[in-house]
This record gives sequence, C-alpha cells and structure tokens, in this order.
Amino acid sequence: MLSSGDPTEQSAPVVRPEVWETYGPADLSAVPVFAGGFINFGYWKAVDLERSLSQADRIRSERDLYRHVLDAAAPEGGRAVEIGCGLGLGCALALEEYGPTAITGVDIHPHQLQRARKANSALLEAQPHRLRFVLGAAEDLPLGDGEFDCLYSVEAAQHFPDLSAFAREAARVLRPGGRVAVTSFFTVGGAPEPARRLAGLLDSFASGLDIARPVSRLADALTEAGFADVRTVSIGPQVWPGWDRWLSRLWAPGTWPRNFLAAWEQQILDYYLVTASLP
Ligand SMILES: C[S@@+](CC[C@H](N)C(=O)[O-])C[C@H]1O[C@@H](n2cnc3c(N)ncnc32)[C@H](O)[C@@H]1O
Repeated sequence: MLSSGDPTEQSAPVVRPEVWETYGPADLSAVPVFAGGFINFGYWKAVDLERSLSQADRIRSERDLYRHVLDAAAPEGGRAVEIGCGLGLGCALALEEYGPTAITGVDIHPHQLQRARKANSALLEAQPHRLRFVLGAAEDLPLGDGEFDCLYSVEAAQHFPDLSAFAREAARVLRPGGRVAVTSFFTVGGAPEPARRLAGLLDSFASGLDIARPVSRLADALTEAGFADVRTVSIGPQVWPGWDRWLSRLWAPGTWPRNFLAAWEQQILDYYLVTASLP
C-alpha cells in the first residue's frame, strides 16, 4: 500500500535549466520521433528493421525498453519506484504486466508530473493505492528509508548531475535485498576525450542536457553506496541501429540525432543496463 497524503511536493527540487526547457510546456513525447507518450530511444530486438517501420513498431520499441529493465528489476509482488518517470506510462506498463503491489513514479519536472497524472488519470482513480506520482530529484528522493523492493530508471540517468548522490539515495530507499536496474547512455570506458567529441556530434551534449560520463561512474557509485553484484551490460546493438533506422524517416544523415549512431560506431557512446542489489 502507498502511504496516504503527499508530503513530497513541499520543497520543489532545483531543475537544471537545460532539463527545465526540454521537458517544459511543449510535450517532448508528442514530437514525431517519440511516440505513445514515451521519451526513449527504444529497444528494437523484436522489430524487423529490414522492412518499413510503423508507428506501432516505434511504440513497441519504447515499451520493450521498459520491459527489458523491468525483467531485471523484477517488481512482481513488491513495491517499486521509477526515477525519471516522464509521462508515467512505464509505471502503467509495469502495473499491468508485472504485478507489483504498488508503484511510485518520481520526476524532477512539474510539467512532466502534470502530464503523468493526466495520462494515467483513469488508473489513478481506479487504483489509488497502487500508483502515485511524486515530484523529486534522483539525488534527493522525497521518499522514506527502506520503502521499496526495487528501483528502476529508463533513459533519465544521462541527465542526473550527481550519480553518487543518486546511488546513495537508491540504497537508502530500498530495503535490504532490494534491486536496482538503470538503463541509459554513457560514454565507453577508455574512449579518448569523450565529452569534447560528443559535444561536437550531439547538441544535447553540447548544451549540457546530457552529461558525458563513463558507465563505470554509475557502477562505482553503486558499489560505494553499498550495492553488491553490480553488473553492466551493453544493450547498444538492440538500441542504436533501430533508433537510427526510425530517425532516418525524418532526419538526414549528419543531422544531430543521426549522430547517436555515429557516436556508437566510433565507440564513444553506448547504451547500457546496470543492475545491482543490496546485501
Ligand atoms: C528522456 S525522459 C524519459 C522519460 C521516461 N523514462 C520514458 O522513457 O519515457 C527523462 C526524464 O527524466 C527526468 N529527469 C531529468 N533529470 C532528473 C533528475 N535529476 N531526477 C529525476 N528526474 C529527472 C526528466 O524530467 C524527464 O521526464
């Protein structure tokens, strides 16, 4: 059961200007490269990339990215929290397909939370004890100690300014034995000058919206926060070619989003799933 009341909106978190602007009044999930209320690049393993892609394929890829993370987080029968939930449709998917007792979606942006509450209004009304949305930063979660069995995050950690603070907060809000599963893009270990090269290729890195850090930074932060069994797996082959194939409908080669594939091919950037559990 979720606790009643919402103590979480008392002190608004500080939102970095780049994040504030990107997820502000204009709903990014309504931009044609995204679809279905999601804002992620997608996990395309189940989609045939040889044929012409449809809107349904695109939404499938975004939902499958969630399923890939939820398979690792294993929220069945437990209390789950998602960090950087966006419009909260991943929370709804988890409720529908994974049977947790309750889910809390956390996002730093008040406009995203407004959209999440609207998009999930029927579910919130029908199952108020199983779903809630809370305003908060990954680095300072307005949640109780040991409140959750699992914590997951989909394509949000590239924005978190302090991965160590995020890892400490994840350890604090999980019960002993709790699991964490995070998927996002990070730089490849050993790549020379990744920040400079990514800023040259991708506007979102040049602007500071996405932060260039090796995936080992998150893995080390989880270890330092007390997590065990920290594992990092590249899922780039299931993400980048499909994302680029979808982008090719709207963007010419060399335009900024097409350079995500270039950054992966040049072994500067990759997409990872990082998992760990508390002893
Ligand atoms: C790319 S969107 C992903 C949304 C959703 N997970 C999805 O896949 O559709 C990133 C989300 O992370 C949120 N975010 C950015 N920085 C955050 C932080 N420090 N703490 C919590 N949420 C954050 C943004 O407001 C945005 O909703």
